[in-house]
Amino acid sequence: MVPKIDILTLFPEMFDGFLNTSIIKRALDNSLVEINVHNFREYSSDKHKRVDDYPYGGGAGMVLMCEPIFNAIEALKKDNTKVIMLTPSGKIFNQRLALEFSKLEHIILLCGHYEGFDERIKTIVDMEVSIGDYVLTGGEIPAMAIVDSLTRLIPGVISSESLISESWNDNMVDYPNYTRPEVFRGMKVPEVLLSGHHKNISEYRDEEKKRLTEENIAMNSGGVDNEK
Ligand code: 6GU
Repeated sequence: MVPKIDILTLFPEMFDGFLNTSIIKRALDNSLVEINVHNFREYSSDKHKRVDDYPYGGGAGMVLMCEPIFNAIEALKKDNTKVIMLTPSGKIFNQRLALEFSKLEHIILLCGHYEGFDERIKTIVDMEVSIGDYVLTGGEIPAMAIVDSLTRLIPGVISSESLISESWNDNMVDYPNYTRPEVFRGMKVPEVLLSGHHKNISEYRDEEKKRLTEENIAMNSGGVDNEK
């Protein structure tokens, strides 16, 4: 089974660099994943290809209309499709969701831009997802974050060894890594890593994982200067 991802956006060109670079490009070239980007403006039956309109009741901004989005989803949806709407009010994405998404046969990612979605669009989606509690101008960057994190978890995309010890795999951050030189501007590589003693190295790494995970949790309860 090759996982298939359809991305619905008004700005398909935003995905050009992303899909043509590094590990995602390699996964596509090796047919380990299939990714298609669609402009949902093409699914508008309006003669001006309108996709948004003024909000009922007034207020700022425009609202994405039901019709083009329903048409696009209905044209692409199959029996095993999960339709995901990208919105800052959605369920917050994490490594566990990335792993679950990497096992799905077909995902549709719906990106809005600038504006909100007509509330009735929620009736045709399975899930609403956010990538964190801050606001972006559109769902395109979240779609890239989700596609990137799920694609690297598809078997064969990167070595399974690289996936075992990495941050958030086990709800913990990764242990610290060092490479040459042994001393850089007076900063030394921890002695134990040079010892060749595998048991001690493994114990050191476990302790460091715990320490850095606790630090990370404390850091995430505060702001820039870690004030609450
Ligand atoms: Cl999915 N969309 C937008 N517009 N902003 C976000 C987001 C999504 N996730 C975090 N911020």
